[in-house]
Amino acid sequence: MGQRTGRVSAATPLDQLTRRLEQKTARVGVIGLGYVGLPLAVEFAKAGFQVTGLDVDAGRVANVNAARSYIPDIADGELARLIRGGRLRAADTLEGLDELDAIIICVPTPLRKTREPDISFILAAAHPIAASLRRGQLIVLESTTYPGTTDEVILPMLQADGLKAGRDFCLAFSPERIDPGNATYQTTTIPKVIGGVTPRCLAAASLLYGQVITRVVPVSSTKVAEMVKLLENTFRAVNIGLVNEIALMCDTLKLDVWEVIEAAASKPFGFMPFYPGPGIGGHCIPSDPMYLAWKARLHGFEARFIELADQTNRAMPRHVVEKLAAALNERRQALKGSRILLLGLAYKKDVNDLRDSPAFDVAHELVERGARLSYHDPHVPSAQLHGGVYRSVPLTAARLKQADGVVILTNHSGVDYGLVLRHAPLILDTRNQYRSVRSARLVKL
Ligand SMILES: NC(=O)c1ccc[n+]([C@@H]2O[C@H](COP(=O)([O-])OP(=O)(O)OC[C@H]3O[C@@H](n4cnc5c(N)ncnc54)[C@H](O)[C@@H]3O)[C@@H](O)[C@H]2O)c1
Repeated sequence: MGQRTGRVSAATPLDQLTRRLEQKTARVGVIGLGYVGLPLAVEFAKAGFQVTGLDVDAGRVANVNAARSYIPDIADGELARLIRGGRLRAADTLEGLDELDAIIICVPTPLRKTREPDISFILAAAHPIAASLRRGQLIVLESTTYPGTTDEVILPMLQADGLKAGRDFCLAFSPERIDPGNATYQTTTIPKVIGGVTPRCLAAASLLYGQVITRVVPVSSTKVAEMVKLLENTFRAVNIGLVNEIALMCDTLKLDVWEVIEAAASKPFGFMPFYPGPGIGGHCIPSDPMYLAWKARLHGFEARFIELADQTNRAMPRHVVEKLAAALNERRQALKGSRILLLGLAYKKDVNDLRDSPAFDVAHELVERGARLSYHDPHVPSAQLHGGVYRSVPLTAARLKQADGVVILTNHSGVDYGLVLRHAPLILDTRNQYRSVRSARLVKL
């Protein structure tokens, strides 16, 4: 304790940190090797830093160390090169944290069953950091969370033993904005928003990220940086909610919502197209706005747009099933007993991420109503649907003919949609895959 709080030249350890960051001799640790953490660890390693990836999932750690990537955007060869070169290694214990100069936290931030924030993963990562914190360390939280997490929760933990942010160590928040599967914008080319607890903290974090990311966007506080991320994802959730409502409206008015959006998008200013679908999924868009709504509620502010968008988006899977039931009814068929093939389970195109995918709600509702399910997803070999384990079936003419209906939930690339169109007796297309096709066997959302 005396050693950690005694009188030393306060600037020295942070000056040393600055030098190490500038010279890329700083040892970087990334806690949480998922969709966010692994690409980040790889970029720091590629830039020349020595990187340790830390994850409680021993399977993931073993895969990284064996250069077996489980994140589609990272190639095995890339991992192998970095591991062989001694730039990257993974470990499944959070020991030796004090040997690291910069520690970046990229752990999950899900919702509780009550739809309130669950920051227990952040706390689980922050406890060992606080226990071994030393002068000259930089800690950055990247997990998406409500405004105040860094300042009100993490900072007191790190300062509990007398060290002070901005004088002894640095603490910052920098939201991750990666879009898995996006070939145009990736970790290094997406501008990085950074807020520090103090100006010194901001400077250190900006220096770290400036070594690998083309543009850093400094903001005045960690709370602003936390709020930026929530604005971005709330913007998406609310606009998707709006367009889903427009889709339901168009359905009632017997209008093609896709045609309406496409024509509206011809306006060169003031309109940005969003598209309806079977619901929203992934780790971010369904959850992040709820973090904000929760924090606002604590301050007596009701986030009405967020709640409404959430309700609208969560009602979409049921709408899909209703639409399918109505289409079968037109053909004098009942949903009960029908063979329904789901095309695409992942929450979005060309990824293998199943978290919060609306496909599960659609499957649940279909099974509850007596449908007999199968699915095809080139990125998902097997999945648990409504309690049962299913395997992705090959997409063949015979299988398509056998089905009573095919529901396109995710329009992955590389699927033979022509084959589906030729052989399926009924297709419900929730993604406008068959944009210009008119067929009596085709029903659009
Ligand atoms: N997935 C995205 O597209 C995306 C985009 C932007 C921001 N984010 C945010 O980034 C954060 C991480 O998301 P993700 O998609 O990478 O999650 P993920 O589930 O893919 O990865 C998180 C990893 O953290 C590990 N972990 C959990 N607790 C740990 C602990 N105490 N110590 C060490 N490791 C631990 C898990 O085992 C897992 O491997 C979340 O806050 C998310 O909202 C995600």
